[in-house]
Amino acid sequence: MPVVALIGAQWGDEGKGGLVDLLASRARLVIRYGGGNNAGHTVVNPLGSFKLHLVPSGIFDPNTVNVIGPGVVIDPEALLNELRDLQARGISTERLFISERAHVIMPYHVQLDQLQEESRGAGKIGTTGRGIGPAYADKMSRTGIRMADLLHEETLLNRLRTVLEEKNRLLTRLYNTKPLSLHDTYLRYLDLGHQLAEHITDVHPIIYRAIEKDLPVLLEGAQGGLLDIDHGTYPYVTSSPPGAAGACQGAGIGPTRIHSVLGVLKAYSTRVGEGPFPTELEGPEADVLRQIGMPWAEVGTTTGRMRRVGWFDAVMARYVVQVNGIDTVAITKLDVLDTLPTIKICVGYRMVETVLEYPPATTALLSAVEPVYEELPGWQTPTSGMRQFYDLPNEAQAYVARICHLVGARLGIISVGPEREQTIEVAEIF
Ligand code: IMP
Repeated sequence: MPVVALIGAQWGDEGKGGLVDLLASRARLVIRYGGGNNAGHTVVNPLGSFKLHLVPSGIFDPNTVNVIGPGVVIDPEALLNELRDLQARGISTERLFISERAHVIMPYHVQLDQLQEESRGAGKIGTTGRGIGPAYADKMSRTGIRMADLLHEETLLNRLRTVLEEKNRLLTRLYNTKPLSLHDTYLRYLDLGHQLAEHITDVHPIIYRAIEKDLPVLLEGAQGGLLDIDHGTYPYVTSSPPGAAGACQGAGIGPTRIHSVLGVLKAYSTRVGEGPFPTELEGPEADVLRQIGMPWAEVGTTTGRMRRVGWFDAVMARYVVQVNGIDTVAITKLDVLDTLPTIKICVGYRMVETVLEYPPATTALLSAVEPVYEELPGWQTPTSGMRQFYDLPNEAQAYVARICHLVGARLGIISVGPEREQTIEVAEIF
């Protein structure tokens, strides 16, 4: 049985939640491998509509084991709130296991994230303000606190004593804010650790056993390939590797064990936060794509910010497909394009006299490129009730086929609405 990595292939918000929910119901193990509560997965299934930030989407199936892997950064309070919400709605959280190696988002991370953003002024990144960047920075500087540390009084106190000294200097001297109390922070995080203790464990044996037994395993991605710390539109990126390599590293599964990388592409483009966006639209076409007034309007799940929207960018998508070894794509929200008379796809970037096939690395160049568009006829027919590929209007089939050809991956799934059953499965994933 395969190990499948499902990853976002644009700037996040590709509609991964619905697909993960569909596939999670067939997987026996679902692993969240990176990012933190900057992510927001909207899941609509027979049990209701849910917004998940840290908990893997396999939580709705009583037969699925869910793991938060070592590569995730965890805000314990946010996780406990999410678990309480699920329990209040009758969902069991017993089968959730949290890696003891995962790093903790501490209160100073959240404060510093917000203070750094403020001090960036016009150059702000537009982070979610959840402490993600500072938490990953501390992990790399080897000053992070891990979930295992919350369960060991002496270790927690010793690590906090050293780290808080530095953080308090930053908070008071650089940002003129109040210092954090060692005593209060220690007691609060010790208590949070106790509340999560039954879930915190070494997840490696759980993962390895599932692979050995050949059970279907789903690696649940958050964010998207264009927000990748190495391959994204730096510095307007998140602080982790959300792609296929990040899945291996963040879950602790070697690349030879992954059978398929499923890249999720929205049928158009969206972005929250700052940064270059070559195919961005304003005006009436943007309003169609934004779906204002609909429950599934293009508004960020985590921060409630209005998403920026634009045409499908095949230059960016092809790059993400290549960097991540995506073999299969899922194209989501096709129905959003139902009313448009014509639809554009960006097939190249014009730079002075040349047309670039790959995105340039710098913000200055990426902001200066002029998209080269191919214009395809729209279908102007509602598709949200269609369940078979060959039911789709010819123009919609052609649009999807063109995207697959341009990015160089086979078609796996199309979604035509937010419900679990509004998916057209073209190729078998599990
Ligand atoms: P951070 O991850 O909070 O540091 O934010 C860095 C950038 O990534 C910002 O532009 C965010 O809007 C974006 N970002 C982070 N997580 C997500 C997500 O789950 N969906 C879409 N954008 C995200």
